[in-house]
Amino acid sequence: TELIPLLSRAPKAELHIHIEGSLEPELIFALAQRNGVALPYADVEALRAAYAFTDLQSFLDIYYAGASVLLQEDDFHDMAWAYFLKAQADHVVHAELFFDPQTHTARGVDTGVVIRGLKRACDRAQAELGISSALILCFLRHLSEDEALATLEAALPWREHFIGVGLDSSERGHPPEKFARVFARAAELGLHRVAHAGEEGPPAYVESALDVLKVERIDHGVRSVESPALIERLAREGVPLTVCPLSNIKLCVFRHMAYHSMPALLALGCKPTVNSDDPAYFGGYLNDNFVALFEALPQLGAREAYALLRNSFEASFVPAERKGAWM
Ligand code: ADE
Ligand code: ZN
Repeated sequence: TELIPLLSRAPKAELHIHIEGSLEPELIFALAQRNGVALPYADVEALRAAYAFTDLQSFLDIYYAGASVLLQEDDFHDMAWAYFLKAQADHVVHAELFFDPQTHTARGVDTGVVIRGLKRACDRAQAELGISSALILCFLRHLSEDEALATLEAALPWREHFIGVGLDSSERGHPPEKFARVFARAAELGLHRVAHAGEEGPPAYVESALDVLKVERIDHGVRSVESPALIERLAREGVPLTVCPLSNIKLCVFRHMAYHSMPALLALGCKPTVNSDDPAYFGGYLNDNFVALFEALPQLGAREAYALLRNSFEASFVPAERKGAWM
């Protein structure tokens, strides 16, 4: 449609991007060589050929393998800088980046190495590209709550470098309430709170993320449409949903983009945004997600495009006075 070029050029905020999911196969191989890490794939083509996912877990196995090349502070900087260059091309003016410290501390990489490398890229993106950004520390939900608590405490020397905490990794069998204490601790520390819920998991996980973890946004939340009562609540409370269209198709949450719940979420008064999740693995960055969504769903028009862009700024954790410049 004629909307696509307008959407592509429009300023936008990205609120759901796992920075480890922006690691392209070429950079994985370059870092493997730089760090002397052996990979179980012969070359870039063989690695990319493995990107045929059947569900969330089949993706996570390869995503954690890809992250194994990240060892030095510069590696984290280079990864995030590559993302910011892609973001600039898509007219992203603000990005809130998830990172998974436990993926790295498990290999002996210090939390400070991760955070300092990422922060250096964030500062450089502001200085050289005019992109503002913030970091959100995510807990891996397939690990224990005690491990999450230890991860948060280990990050506190860099408390000023991240604005919030999130919850990601394998959703099924790991309900939000498993992390009640660590999210309460994060709240005490003045950190923002978000959680993945209702991606592969049921609407009940979205409810417990809100009720028990007291999250301010739901990451994904696309399965909320299965519960009319939940949808009514999300709309009434204005809870933002950070939706990732290409991710949902690649991980078989929906059979085809034509069946995505985005039109229903918008029509029912919810507050969805569009995001890329793990762009190096799912076939595209932020604009690719907008294009795939709008091309597959003719019921999405200018009104919906405007709402999605506006929601991205409204749902960001930028102070209200700075939002004014965008909205
Ligand atoms: N980690 C990276 N991407 C994720 C996703 N889409 N869901 C859960 N955990 C993730
Ligand atoms: Zn995600």
